[in-house]
Amino acid sequence: MSDTQSKQNTSSEAPVIELQHVDKYYGDLHVLKDINLSVKKGEVVVVIGPSGSGKSTLCRTINRLETIDSGCILIEGEKLPEEGAKLAELRSKVGMVFQSFNLFAHKTILDNVTMAPMNVLHKSKTEARSEAMELLSRVGVDSQASKLPSQLSGGQQQRVAIARALAMHPKAILFDEPTSALDPEMINEVLDVMTELASSGMTMVVVTHEMNFARRVADRVIFMDSGAIVEENTPEEFFTNPKNIRAQEFLKSIKTH
Ligand SMILES: Nc1ncnc2c1ncn2[C@@H]1O[C@H](COP(=O)(O)OP(=O)(O)O)[C@@H](O)[C@H]1O
Ligand SMILES: [Mg+2]
Repeated sequence: MSDTQSKQNTSSEAPVIELQHVDKYYGDLHVLKDINLSVKKGEVVVVIGPSGSGKSTLCRTINRLETIDSGCILIEGEKLPEEGAKLAELRSKVGMVFQSFNLFAHKTILDNVTMAPMNVLHKSKTEARSEAMELLSRVGVDSQASKLPSQLSGGQQQRVAIARALAMHPKAILFDEPTSALDPEMINEVLDVMTELASSGMTMVVVTHEMNFARRVADRVIFMDSGAIVEENTPEEFFTNPKNIRAQEFLKSIKTH
């Protein structure tokens, strides 16, 4: 498609993330089963499912932290290559925020955010720092810039991780249970940042057990069970009238504790 065509007709714009018939095995374990998923620009897709259903593996394959055995993954219409510079480029278009923050322990908060923009995007130190300070202020931790990660609360560290992802100007961000390791009183400060990001138009795939967040923020919910997407629906439909029996059981189990 030519540039003019894509500008004339935005509905023909390629999805930001697209998985076509993706299968993955760990030895005998069929961990992803014929996954088809398309995430449009600005869409927020929440992934729900029991432990071990393949949610983290799904995120990791989208970012090529894991290989797949068949099918294909496209980022903005471009197929993820096996390796090389093109893979690094496509991978840098998709940010990732993990359950365990994954900040560099011996670097300051500011350095954690400026490192990749300087090393990968070749930004000057001055530019990287000024942009990092803006992002840290956006997530409410600019006053912590010169500290080490261990001096921050979990909620603050996770907000830094989000700022770090944003510093790469990603086309989409994947969140893998970003609040699961947090004390309850810190969960909302992270969800608030994610809600703000979603309303700013960021394309997001969010694995979470925070059902209120999913209900409020998701455009679409997908439910995974044993490596397959077994239900895909609007949050309203999914939470009030789940079709899949495993989804019904799962929703019941989390409501009762
Ligand atoms: N590196 C690995 N090697 C072998 N099995 C794995 C590996 N990572 C995950 N698994 C298995 O794959 C399945 C899906 O795991 P995962 O994607 O982490 O699920 P979820 O995030 O939904 O809890 C689980 O049965 C898990 O034990
Ligand atoms: Mg997981």
